[in-house]
Amino acid sequence: KKLLLINGPNLNLLGTREPDKYGTTTLAEIDTDLRAFVESTGGTKQPEGDLVDRIQQAAKEGIEAVIINPGAYTHTSIAIRDAFLSVKIPFIEVHLSNIFKREEFRHHSYLSDIAEGCIIGLGVHGYFSAAAYFLTAE
Ligand code: DQA
Repeated sequence: KKLLLINGPNLNLLGTREPDKYGTTTLAEIDTDLRAFVESTGGTKQPEGDLVDRIQQAAKEGIEAVIINPGAYTHTSIAIRDAFLSVKIPFIEVHLSNIFKREEFRHHSYLSDIAEGCIIGLGVHGYFSAAAYFLTAE
């Protein structure tokens, strides 16, 4: 199964970024371990337009499912929502931290209601659970 992992802005800093909230595993470690777990193509994208382009590109590449941690764009981006609505690729929204335990502005996501599912607050386990789901789901 062809899966795509997309990480939004500032997730390239994982490992050193607020480790109390996001843990100490780096994005490179997550990517390597996830690749070992499933054949996936990953990447981190910072500008919103690049994420939109990557999602549109995924459809052309025959990607069957996307695992995305959109970072702060979760709470702001109608463009990323529209990109997923356009390509109709199923996706799981992952957040390392429990956004509902945090500031009020993090409680709303523009993606959750159109996601296949959301995994929130389980740290890096979220990425692996999402991959396991897509590997075993119909
Ligand atoms: C995050 C939560 C977002 O609110 C924040 O902006 C991030 C990381 C998470 O993984 O917990 O960049 O998506």
